[in-house]
Amino acid sequence: MAKIYYASRTAPVNIATLKYWGKRDKDLNLPTNSSISVTLSQKDLRTLTTASCSEVFEKDELWLNGQSHSLDTPRTQQCLSDLRKYREELEARDESLPKLSKMHLHIVSENNFPTAAGLASSAAGFAALISAIAKLYELPQTASDLSKIARKGSGSACRSLFGGYVAWEMGELENGEDSKAVEVAPLSHWPDMKACILVVSDDKKDVPSTSGMQLTVKTSPLFQHRIEKVVPQRFEEMKKSIVEKNFPLFAELTMKDSNSFHATCLDSYPPIFYLNDTSKRIIKLINLLNDSVGEIIAAYTYDAGPNAVIYYEQKNESRVLGLLHAVFKSVDGWQKIDVKSLTPPSIELDPTWGSGV
Ligand code: DP6
Repeated sequence: MAKIYYASRTAPVNIATLKYWGKRDKDLNLPTNSSISVTLSQKDLRTLTTASCSEVFEKDELWLNGQSHSLDTPRTQQCLSDLRKYREELEARDESLPKLSKMHLHIVSENNFPTAAGLASSAAGFAALISAIAKLYELPQTASDLSKIARKGSGSACRSLFGGYVAWEMGELENGEDSKAVEVAPLSHWPDMKACILVVSDDKKDVPSTSGMQLTVKTSPLFQHRIEKVVPQRFEEMKKSIVEKNFPLFAELTMKDSNSFHATCLDSYPPIFYLNDTSKRIIKLINLLNDSVGEIIAAYTYDAGPNAVIYYEQKNESRVLGLLHAVFKSVDGWQKIDVKSLTPPSIELDPTWGSGV
């Protein structure tokens, strides 16, 4: 009987507070700007992936949420080939190791949230895939090293290799070796931080991120201004606000960056609209709340879709969620708005997360 080798890992969803939007190299997936994210709780949102390999497997195969999917996309192939290369190096150094790099892989992956909910499933998906294979291959690489492989699968995935507060440094090198995720602070640094997701619509995205950002890079004059004059300074300020646990500053920068990203979408030609009327109502409401309190206690942010992620501190939870419930239960769209409270990130649940595999 041929032996089957296997390993499982989970990876969490991350939500950017300083957005990645634009590639300077499409093949290596190198971004035009650095970005920052908060990793959400694996209890609520995560991908669980089991990677296995055996001499008897006849081809590489993937099952995602119970359905067979192709592994033949150039991005996935690039990730598999990078991981196999690392394993080959180990096998070349130690003759006694089984030749896993020569065997086909079977991957089984499952999300604990609906893929259609407009949440960043590709980030958790690629991060879990890379982590599970790295564990199967017993690779010594660090989370930052692996983030460079995940980046080639989907840019935002590189940030899901860490829990807590994460920066993706855009890097300068043409080969992408310095374009990687690093930890800004662990979850335990700011335990008061909370996030909730307002699912405004679970329709599929109008314009997928990859093609949307290509269009913005090509056509938006505002985009140049954003990457040259706005983001570099904001990147440093946001890291500082996290290190200093300065919520009003963190929240202001988060909202401004969401606005700036959606402005470049609107400035693309033809324009890209990710926000709908309900998304805009939520923006107004959060601004009204902050104005009425006289201090910023909540921040909204939107990715490439209409669903809002709201960040706030635990001490303000009843004020923030209370208001959202009170307002949205009285409008027609309430049925579609599913308010979930999430404690970000993952370290509590997986103490080894981010410290390598
Ligand atoms: C708006 O990581 O999905 O969520 O690299 O082409 O796979 P690809 O794009 P992707 O883009 C995410 C865009 C974003 C912002 C962010 O997560 O930083």
